[in-house]
Amino acid sequence: MKLFDVYPVNNISIEKAKGSYVWDDKGEQYLDLYGGHAVISIGHTHPHYVERVTNQLNKVGFYSNSVKMPLQEELAEKLGRISGKPDYQLFLISSGAEANENALKLASFYNGRKKIIAFKKSFHGRTSLAVAATDNPSIVAPVNQTGNIIFLPFNDVAALEACFAEQGPAISSVIIEGIQGVGGINVASESFLQTIRRLCDQHNAVYIADSVQCGYGRTGKFFSHDFAGVNADIYTMAKGMGNGFPVAGIIIAPHLQPKHGMLGTTFGGNHLACAAALAVLEVIEKDNLMRNAAEIGQYLMDELKKIPQLQNVRGRGLMIGFDVPEQYKDLRKNLLWKHKIFTGEAKPNVIRLLPSLALRKQDADLLLEAIKEEIQVGAEA
Ligand SMILES: Cc1ncc(COP(=O)(O)O)c(C=O)c1O
Repeated sequence: MKLFDVYPVNNISIEKAKGSYVWDDKGEQYLDLYGGHAVISIGHTHPHYVERVTNQLNKVGFYSNSVKMPLQEELAEKLGRISGKPDYQLFLISSGAEANENALKLASFYNGRKKIIAFKKSFHGRTSLAVAATDNPSIVAPVNQTGNIIFLPFNDVAALEACFAEQGPAISSVIIEGIQGVGGINVASESFLQTIRRLCDQHNAVYIADSVQCGYGRTGKFFSHDFAGVNADIYTMAKGMGNGFPVAGIIIAPHLQPKHGMLGTTFGGNHLACAAALAVLEVIEKDNLMRNAAEIGQYLMDELKKIPQLQNVRGRGLMIGFDVPEQYKDLRKNLLWKHKIFTGEAKPNVIRLLPSLALRKQDADLLLEAIKEEIQVGAEA
């Protein structure tokens, strides 16, 4: 059987991983500043994570939501406390798209409306509503097309106000990434998020904070949306939540009063998923990883800004992007093949950094040295 061709593949086969490093089948070491699409939050094969997941697997790996789940209670308590949203309800699923799908659906259950505001360059996943709210027509199948999504320009307060003035009573929800990831590391302004909050309050619409990529401590705050100082009604999370184990969640503000039967799942919140998610939160807390993300992220960003050839260095914490001018268009390739450093990209010319939140200064320095060397080589060419 042939494999379905999912993504462009680097010809590297990873066999071992630890912290911010991975090794291929030839024993070659790579610095991982991408974490497999922003998933590795506490570092590869963290000993506490391995121990907790292994112990759980030896006890019971899976049972469905038809029995009591003390591990889910423990996770909800810890997540509520660390995220600063203890009065929200947690619903557990297995992927980011599923989280957004359920959030959009719940919003519509809540206010009985159909229209969704999403933004240019957004990415919310590949399932039906999530992909419809994603600004990339090439991945929206005809069956996913709906007249219910309104795409507005990102960070444009006037456009948002005009849309609510015209269609307010029809708008069910507004979904926004705190920092657009796939779209190229675009930070939502605090005033824009505050405007979303105000307009959603005025019109009884639901503010959905897609925190799948930018959340879970990556920016130095638990949710990057928190920088605006206002709460969303639903936060969606996935990637960093399980450090590689497929676990995702939505947390729901009390006033939405979700009812039994509105949402459901077979795999969501199983024993192994909860053990993985608990291990991640325990390490984030014990090793102070949110503070590390803020400090090393700031250091990295400050140093990148000193390299004049890199344009528009931006982001927050350890979610950083910059534009690479045409002259250095092979930078990302050279970082990987010459310097053995994994980074991410966004079209057309953005390098995206999404390392583990435990990244050390000496690892950040390796990247900075490699970039400077490549810029030097590029300038001489
Ligand atoms: C902001 C955002 N939302 C949703 C998703 C979809 O997550 P998943 O691939 O787990 O379905 C992604 C994935 O990249 C994402 O970046």
